[in-house]
Amino acid sequence: MNSGPMNSGADSTSAHGFSPISGSAIRVGVDLGDRSYDVLVGNGVRHELAAMIPTGVRRVAVVTQQGIPFTVDPGVPFELFTIGSGEDHKSLTTIGELCSGFARMGLNRADAVVGVGGGMVTDVAGFAAASYHRGVPVVHVSTTLLGMIDAAVGGKTGVNIAEGKNLVGAYWQPSGVICDLDALSALPLRELRCGRGEMAKYHFLTGDDLLAMDEPERIARCIAIKADVVGSDERESGRRALLNYGHTLAHALEIATHYDIAHGEAVAIGLIYAAHLARELGRIDDARVDDHYRVVGRAYELDTSLPTGLDHHQLLMSMGRDKKALDGLTFVLDGPDGVEVVVGVPADAVLRALESMSAAQGQGGAVTCMPD
Ligand code: GLY
Repeated sequence: MNSGPMNSGADSTSAHGFSPISGSAIRVGVDLGDRSYDVLVGNGVRHELAAMIPTGVRRVAVVTQQGIPFTVDPGVPFELFTIGSGEDHKSLTTIGELCSGFARMGLNRADAVVGVGGGMVTDVAGFAAASYHRGVPVVHVSTTLLGMIDAAVGGKTGVNIAEGKNLVGAYWQPSGVICDLDALSALPLRELRCGRGEMAKYHFLTGDDLLAMDEPERIARCIAIKADVVGSDERESGRRALLNYGHTLAHALEIATHYDIAHGEAVAIGLIYAAHLARELGRIDDARVDDHYRVVGRAYELDTSLPTGLDHHQLLMSMGRDKKALDGLTFVLDGPDGVEVVVGVPADAVLRALESMSAAQGQGGAVTCMPD
């Protein structure tokens, strides 16, 4: 065990860790000393971008993708860099091209990068900003649910290499993050569901009744939960690992299906699996497993079934190779003291939980929804 359970409630501006600002916008603070920053959540908050650009910045490189639902105005002269879509473009080649472009436009350390898009864009823009001139400020304008509640906040940046996803990167905190909810009305249903998979995770990290909140408040609360964790463990030496709840099986499923299953979809299934495994280990009871089905399957209408035809022993091996695993099979699991990191989980329990999850599907225990 290398970290304690989550406590309910972030410790910043309100009991929920965020504060309303003008109109319907909400501000969430990420408290990292002299690198602290705000996350703005609300409809139309992209128009606050200029105010978030650090003082003294003369030029901005805006990194985005085709199909992003809006353009932005950073309030200073800027150049637009459009990167390709898809995991193949989340690469060192893209970082090299961006940095060459930044150099050609004369961007220097007193200037800034703005990433406008989903998690891939903010991961790439963040890593380019972390690398160029050994680090220039970056502001993220997140346009997907998954990006808003996870990727854009917390400073993890990076790209893929042939040997694995996100294997090269840096911690590089943004100067600010904008989550303009206008973007969500244009989000394809599958993207929205991926965000909900990640959102479902937050239900189990604290005792909050997130379902009782309206959407802006719920998104802000998820960000506040993450901000609280990042503020206490920026570089994942302990508590930040709790943000990987549901992710151990999720990563194995992504690999086993050659990424046909998207990350948020895999996390949804991974959360259900984590509940079965926790019950297998006697950490939670049936009612708590059902809570997981209630949130993931019934409230968010996400598929909770293990994809059929996968070899459970292969999944076991893949979970054993998870890059977060420090000591044998390592999982983030629910329990009497809340969600915590559990090391040295026996392989036979891992396999039994895969079986019990499959059996629950057979008995109609799992709630599923049809893919698009
Ligand atoms: N996505 C998990 C983290 O930021 O730590």
